[in-house]
Amino acid sequence: MKTRITELFEIEHPIIQGGMHYVGFAELAAAVSNAGGLGIITALTQKTAEDLGKEIEKCISLTNKPFGVNLTFLPSVAAPDMPAYVKVIIDSGVKIVETAGRSPEQVLPYFKDAGIKVIHKCTSIRHSLKAQSIGCDAVSVDGFECGGHPGEDDIPNMILLPRAADELEIPFVASGGMADARSLVASLAMGADGMNMGTRFMATKEAPIHERVKEAIVAATELDTRLIMRPLRNTERVLKNPTVDLVLAKEKELGQDIKIDDIIDEVAGVYPRVMLEGKVDSGAWSCGMVAGLINDIPSFKELINQIMLEADYLIRKRLEQMLSA
Ligand SMILES: Cc1cc2nc3c(=O)[nH]c(=O)nc-3n(C[C@H](O)[C@H](O)[C@H](O)COP(=O)(O)O)c2cc1C
Repeated sequence: MKTRITELFEIEHPIIQGGMHYVGFAELAAAVSNAGGLGIITALTQKTAEDLGKEIEKCISLTNKPFGVNLTFLPSVAAPDMPAYVKVIIDSGVKIVETAGRSPEQVLPYFKDAGIKVIHKCTSIRHSLKAQSIGCDAVSVDGFECGGHPGEDDIPNMILLPRAADELEIPFVASGGMADARSLVASLAMGADGMNMGTRFMATKEAPIHERVKEAIVAATELDTRLIMRPLRNTERVLKNPTVDLVLAKEKELGQDIKIDDIIDEVAGVYPRVMLEGKVDSGAWSCGMVAGLINDIPSFKELINQIMLEADYLIRKRLEQMLSA
């Protein structure tokens, strides 16, 4: 399949694996890229810029296909040394960066000067237009369904994607709630040039996370995610568990007066415990509503091949037959 996204990133299939904290290691990014998609290493999972440099080197040793690095700007307990991370990304020869969290305006000139293509992930049309106006090459349009941070507008992809198609000139991928060929074909029909997946890539054989996390995603339905940190305007969609219930109870009790310190134990420093040790109830971790569509743990290759095969069927057979009936 050829789209503006496969052309831009020189990849075989229009499928991107979004940055994911403590999931987006070199093994994951390389495996997605080797399967013909675009794998992405999550920069801030690496404790220092130097560690990120090593992770990028590792990825280069695991694939000769294009891969990217995600750089997320979000409120965090200890502010990372962003200039050092940017420098390492540029020096390592990485050619694609996914930015997220807030406008990449400050770092964009450095990436552009280095010939790096930038795809910015955003949850609204106004932020997508801003990304286009400052010179981003593409955007990842993240609907309300998404795992992680859906923003504060709550617009689902059935509305957000056609709106993006109407407004944007640069290519965009559909993100949030994407799981299979149906997601891909629907996204293409709504004007996207591909899709970005997070949660679906976690429930795969090679994903470098604990088996219990994968099993929790398979067991979950579309009813099992919750939005936390809304009063702090840092909304996150997470999988429901007893710790998340506690966060929601505190939010209810404290209302608009809640401070990050009130829930810090439940939301900060959680990812190593959950993703590496498999303590899935020990904190709040991002997960999309798409968990309701995830019922198996395939290999990356099986997953991506299946999506492309079924997309071919949907386009050539199901849709074509309706027209010629
Ligand atoms: C466990 C997890 C961690 C994530 N961490 C990040 C992150 O660090 N930076 C980022 O830009 N997006 C992050 N995301 C969002 C994903 O890149 C992607 O946009 C989102 O998962 C898409 O929605 P989906 O889960 O419905 O596919 C994370 C998502 C998950 C599920």
